[in-house]
Amino acid sequence: SILFSNSHTLTGKRLLVTAGPTQEAIDPVRYISNHSSGKMGISIAHEAAKRGAVVDLILGPTQLTIAHPNIHITNVRSAVEMFEACLKIHPFVDIAIFSAAVADYSPIHIADQKLKKIGDSLVIELKKNVDIAESLGAQKRDHQVHVGFALETENETENATEKLKRKNFDLVVMNSLRDEGAGFQKDTNKVTYITATTPPQTSEVLPKAQIAGQILDMAVQLLRKPA
Ligand code: CTP
Ligand code: CA
Repeated sequence: SILFSNSHTLTGKRLLVTAGPTQEAIDPVRYISNHSSGKMGISIAHEAAKRGAVVDLILGPTQLTIAHPNIHITNVRSAVEMFEACLKIHPFVDIAIFSAAVADYSPIHIADQKLKKIGDSLVIELKKNVDIAESLGAQKRDHQVHVGFALETENETENATEKLKRKNFDLVVMNSLRDEGAGFQKDTNKVTYITATTPPQTSEVLPKAQIAGQILDMAVQLLRKPA
């Protein structure tokens, strides 16, 4: 099975990896965001670079850093910034891995000045953000492989399979928050791999570096063999 195969080289391959959270500004000093640490995506970028790939890492705000000669980092803040950075690179990559925890909504208005504490309640109106994976999925070429993540708390496999189709992913890496050893801020992860053509396969609880290796192995095997 794929989970026990040898690690594949990535020499000559170019990768796009999104990682970390995004921050959506409310006013000059406040934002909407989430608890993503960026650890999983940074691990993927690092493992791919060690295997010889040239990696473009589009990284949302995080404390973590990574330095490797094969990794080029673009730091971004909002979903829109992340999308624009991805658009520039996507046409040139073999594999795109969407591990960022992109904020689903952002404030319709960004206040020019700090909001003052006036009423007893406050409503901030939000609009849906661009879906980076779905938008790039619509322009995916035959030679490209797209990998997405799905964080689910219920109907896990069903929801992840819906995302596989809607976003034109070749592989979805599903996280269940019900699993011990998985989730935000952790050093380990336990995931289920979902493709259109193979039955779901669940990993052991493993360090994120080893999960990263499995994801890359699966992505390489999904790359279309040249005719
Ligand atoms: N994703 C993205 N751009 C977004 C939202 C999600 O690129 N605006 C990507 C994520 O990086 C991940 C995949 O899409 O690879 C699934 O993200 P997820 O949040 O699980 O899916 P959503 O479509 O946002 O659905 P929901 O949050 O309602 O479950
Ligand atoms: Ca989401």
